[in-house]
Amino acid sequence: MKVAILTISDKGYEGKRKDESGKIALKMMKEAGAEIIDYEILPDEEEMIKMKLINLCDREKVDLILTSGGTGFSPRDVTPEATLKVIERQAPGLAEAMRASSLKFTPHAMLSRAVSGIRGKTLIINLPGSPKGVRECLEVVLPVLFHAIEILTGRGGECATR
Ligand code: MTE
Repeated sequence: MKVAILTISDKGYEGKRKDESGKIALKMMKEAGAEIIDYEILPDEEEMIKMKLINLCDREKVDLILTSGGTGFSPRDVTPEATLKVIERQAPGLAEAMRASSLKFTPHAMLSRAVSGIRGKTLIINLPGSPKGVRECLEVVLPVLFHAIEILTGRGGECATR
């Protein structure tokens, strides 16, 4: 599974904050056996996020893009908007499952506007910006990611046979 990780944070992009969140996603995906194709920090700029997502999907043809950050209520939080503008099919179950599970840890999970969806053969999943949030959410979806990518890319078997 080819994975790209994007941390979306103005402070991270300006070098004013160390990016722990992206690093956690990177470590967890590596340990799960994924190949990390790209890792980048972007500012909370919708156009830049959209361009990067489109490039990773259409040119780099990565299987999975994980974004971290920019999913909250701040006026600068535009990650879900950028994601919704580039995906062709929604995959709401992933975001729903992460939000539902996160409520066990914090009521602030309700404030995440994260979305998940598909462009071509690439799955895009928004994660929250905090390191804790990344770990708690990625743990929820990790067990289904390899199967999801198998089905999406046509590399795997059918669900009904399992
Ligand atoms: N989900 C989990 N599992 N753990 C968390 O700590 N933080 C929440 C929420 N989701 C959190 C979480 C908080 S405080 C916010 S404001 C929203 O995610 C949006 O975060 P973001 O703007 O950093 O993306």
